[in-house]
Amino acid sequence: MDRFIIKGGRRLKGHVDISGAKNAALPIMAGALLAGGPSLVLRVPRLADINHMSQLLSELGVDVSRTDSDALRLEVKDESSSHARYDLVRKMRASVCVLGPMLAKRGEARVAMPGGCAIGSRPIDLHLRGLRALGAQIELEGGDVVAKAKKLTGASIFLGGPFGSTVLGTANVMMAAVLAKGTTVIESAACEPEVADLAAYLNSMGAKIRGAGTPRLTIEGVSELRGAQHEVIPDRIEAGTFMVAAALTNGEVKLSHCCLDHMLAVTDKLHEIGVIVEQADGGAVVASARHLEPTDVSTQPYPGFPTDLQAQLTTLLCLADGNSAITEKIFPDRFMHVAELMRMGADIRKEGPTAIVTGVKRLVGAPVMASDLRASASLVLAGLVARGETAVHRVYHIDRGYEQIEKKLQPLGAGIERLAE
Ligand code: EPZ
Repeated sequence: MDRFIIKGGRRLKGHVDISGAKNAALPIMAGALLAGGPSLVLRVPRLADINHMSQLLSELGVDVSRTDSDALRLEVKDESSSHARYDLVRKMRASVCVLGPMLAKRGEARVAMPGGCAIGSRPIDLHLRGLRALGAQIELEGGDVVAKAKKLTGASIFLGGPFGSTVLGTANVMMAAVLAKGTTVIESAACEPEVADLAAYLNSMGAKIRGAGTPRLTIEGVSELRGAQHEVIPDRIEAGTFMVAAALTNGEVKLSHCCLDHMLAVTDKLHEIGVIVEQADGGAVVASARHLEPTDVSTQPYPGFPTDLQAQLTTLLCLADGNSAITEKIFPDRFMHVAELMRMGADIRKEGPTAIVTGVKRLVGAPVMASDLRASASLVLAGLVARGETAVHRVYHIDRGYEQIEKKLQPLGAGIERLAE
């Protein structure tokens, strides 16, 4: 197990290349279960979660390999097992998105029900509601979801939940519906760019999906799908994290492979705070005004402000000149980073799903503990700007979603190193 040692107070300057999006690559990899031939997926980041999905797919009879050009080649070789074991699913909730494709292609699927999560309760009732609407019989046996259907049939499905749409729920039901008999309409579908990217991959395999990126998806079932080549979209959450790093350290950073079109709510909020974000060829340039304005923000489903950047923005607002209110409307308990930031001198008060942040002059280095992927990113960001040295423990959380983040920060001038615990 590793930790990061960060010496703060250095301005970040230079260029960083943004990786492919983890949250697009994972369901796309599961989508390869639907194909009657090999798929080649480009710009799949090297992350712990990608390795987990590769391991799971191998157990489900998919041959997964990296090509010389760093693409991921996926080919179904054996359909005899449809069991996604608890041991794998508990390590990564996104494993649940093998349920829809296996049910559609193999007529059955046994997937361990994902358990608890550090960021809050994460049921899959909407996933199951959608699959049942397509005609699947679904039971819960020994902690596993057991789904069966000789042939799925198209249906009209409302997939909205108490917190709005569901990203992986939309992915799961969409992947089941592409091989169903007849037409499916998914209402209140998630509009995230990652869902649209999955739909683009499925359409390149021969699926007939319309309305991707909007709340209404129309899917005409087809009898079979072929393998395809697809390039994964840039990771807007990684890009947002580096934008905050530049802003926090008064830096100037050029991001390449960054799609600002997917980040309008983020850049809008950064502009409000006083951060300069400008389009630059194939990416963006981020520079920070010396003065950070406070602001209020609520996380929302896309195209609203993403919950996966809430913790990072909280760190930025710790140094703004005044009070900010950050309301978490997707995962109301997603504030594990708050107590750790307060160990570094932040002034934050929690009121239900809202954190009231009173800006302070500076943060001070301290040993802190990562608890989940994005909370750990917010602590690394705090360490970059804090006076003195910060030790971030349990960085395996960050390796799940950031490709060697210290190797991307060091060339920008950051004083960060990875040490074994
Ligand atoms: C995806 O998770 C992302 N994960 C999460 O990113 C992200 O935080 C989340 O979407 C929201 O944007 C991946 O794409 C792998 P949801 P997902 O279903 O699909 C409730 C990261 O940091 N809900 O859209 O699991 C749920 O509890 C990760 O990269 C139900 O009530 O999230 C939540 O409050 C963390 N019933 C809300 O909906 C359901 O059946 C949105 O969850 C499903 C969800």
